[in-house]
Amino acid sequence: MSSVPGLATGAIPSPNIWHHTATYEVENHAFDPDGLVESAMLEVLGAADLSGRTVLDLGCGTGFHLPRFAATASSVVGVEPHPGLLRLARRRVAGTPSVDVRHGSAQQVPLPDASVDVVHARWAYFFGPGCEPGLRELSRVVRRGGTAFVLDNDGTTSTFGAWFRRGYPKIRADEVERFWAARGWRRTPIATCWRFTSRADLEAVVRIEFDRATADAILTEHPPSAGLEVDYAVNLWWRTF
Ligand SMILES: C[S@@+](CC[C@H](N)C(=O)[O-])C[C@H]1O[C@@H](n2cnc3c(N)ncnc32)[C@H](O)[C@@H]1O
Repeated sequence: MSSVPGLATGAIPSPNIWHHTATYEVENHAFDPDGLVESAMLEVLGAADLSGRTVLDLGCGTGFHLPRFAATASSVVGVEPHPGLLRLARRRVAGTPSVDVRHGSAQQVPLPDASVDVVHARWAYFFGPGCEPGLRELSRVVRRGGTAFVLDNDGTTSTFGAWFRRGYPKIRADEVERFWAARGWRRTPIATCWRFTSRADLEAVVRIEFDRATADAILTEHPPSAGLEVDYAVNLWWRTF
């Protein structure tokens, strides 16, 4: 996308966060309010927290997750290709010396070989078929014994999963599964939720994630009486190097 000056090579357009940054922040607050994703990551790592580890958040966006990682990790690096988001991420962690935010992409991670213990890539649609250069970069930067995590939607189950299937019919769950399994990644399914504090927030977030017709249909089928919580299935894909 040459229309974004300074975009790092290989960046995949991410209209939700690029064009609706404030609403995306609301979505981040609403998603997984009970921290099930973090618990699942720690279970895979066999650890109570991230102490002693260097964590890379790849495609960190505005850096929403960086302070949480920095609470226990020895150091944290956020990498983001979009210059505007990069600036916001740097602002978010200004004053936290253990966090560094760098311009780059999955295809060109600005880190030395074997320098990272844990990689977190959330909603990283830059991983998936065609993303082999990024996977090679993971093998390069992760230390032996380190673990990479990719969090993605599970369209096979849950209310959100049904919405996702309808909005993104070209994404086939069986193909995604085959892609990761063939490369030695494992899947931890997580049944989590979106939990909003207002109907206006729920509607705004649905509208940045789906096209107008799909969002209209979703919001008709999920009226205010359905409440502010939406059950939401995700897959945590992970591999130890
Ligand atoms: C949906 S957003 C998720 C942001 C963040 N992970 C979060 O959970 O708040 C996807 C992010 O990936 C970034 N991105 C797009 N292509 C990328 C690539 N090739 N390598 C790394 N990041 C990429 C986008 O700029 C965007 O910030």
